[in-house]
Amino acid sequence: MRINTVLARSISDTRGYPTIETILTAGSFSATASIPSGKSTGTHEAFELRDADGGVTRAIENVNDEIAHALVGRDFDSIDELDAFLIQLDGTKNKSRLGANAILSVSIAAMRLSALMENIPLWDAIAKRTGTTQQAPRLYVNVINGGVHADFRLPFQEYILVVEGNTNEALPIAHEAFTKLGELLRTHDTDVPMGDEGGYAPTFDTLEQPFELLASLVAEYPGTSIALDAAASELFHNGAYQLLGKSYSADELLAFYRELVERFPLHSIEDPFDEDSVTDFIRLTAMLEDFSTPLGAKKVLVVGDDLTVTNPVRISQAMKYKEINAVLIKPNQIGTVRETILAVQETYTADCKVIASHRSGETDDTFIADFARGIGAHGIKAGGFGQKERLEKYDRLLAIEREAETR
Ligand code: PGA
Ligand code: ZN
Repeated sequence: MRINTVLARSISDTRGYPTIETILTAGSFSATASIPSGKSTGTHEAFELRDADGGVTRAIENVNDEIAHALVGRDFDSIDELDAFLIQLDGTKNKSRLGANAILSVSIAAMRLSALMENIPLWDAIAKRTGTTQQAPRLYVNVINGGVHADFRLPFQEYILVVEGNTNEALPIAHEAFTKLGELLRTHDTDVPMGDEGGYAPTFDTLEQPFELLASLVAEYPGTSIALDAAASELFHNGAYQLLGKSYSADELLAFYRELVERFPLHSIEDPFDEDSVTDFIRLTAMLEDFSTPLGAKKVLVVGDDLTVTNPVRISQAMKYKEINAVLIKPNQIGTVRETILAVQETYTADCKVIASHRSGETDDTFIADFARGIGAHGIKAGGFGQKERLEKYDRLLAIEREAETR
């Protein structure tokens, strides 16, 4: 592959913050990528380069100057070679010199270009590059937003309805359940705002109430279950977890999760403890092995996000010590498609599950939908239905399904 032009600019994400969009051309082909941004970021994530005022001017300059000069006119035998070149050009461990946002915008646009040049769909190119069998991911629809995504109106960050099946069957069920949930919430409070990820942001008096409400939805819609992203690093202060005005030790929080799993149809729990509280992750994962749940003998997944940050080395450690049994994968936590794929492969080597994920500050880029399909992910987190940029991911999943059926 030989790149002819590289051009980056600033666009707005769903929070109205600036983010980077890059267009690459090669021959008569052109491809664009824009990069999302997290709010509950893990401290071990790759470096998102921002100006002092929060802008992305320096990241854009890095693409338009240094990266463009290095790439244009150079021949790459493969897209892996191009990503390796970007990693080497930056030269730092966490992409802090050029910025992971700058680098990833080029890496994703290049992946799109290579699929176009091969005349195959993006998801198919991803499946080939990863060595995976593509399949429809379960929908992880973030129906109730809390934590930093909703001014801590609720302590936990994401209350998710998981819907099994192909997207064309799962999506209408998810939409109906989402609307129903809105009606139920409005019977308690007529003014329910929306959170950062396009889900409802209500308040509740107890920790259990949102689970009781979601369990009533699950009972109504077969093939659904509940997932939780506690994003517990955000709740961890001075060695304890602050939940609805009460302080919980790690032991007390572990006991609370046990009670949740016993009482409610839980599918997975993400980031249940602070990102550095490794032994607590291990205790929960061991506890949930072979745990009898309302879902029957099914194992409740313990998912690493801030813990593992899509970093193959951190994932390998987490798998070795059985800290988790599933991994959240977000390309901008690591900064190239190549390393994101390595992270997926590392997870699969340990026979664990992958959930591909958007970020809380999103753009209309739908790469994550193709990625989830291509790697045959267990699930995809793409948010609630209250935001256009989340709906676009679901629309893309539907389109992919049609593409896959007609091939
Ligand atoms: P973030 O949240 O994009 O704000 O990090 C998503 C998540 O924690 O899964
Ligand atoms: Zn998370």
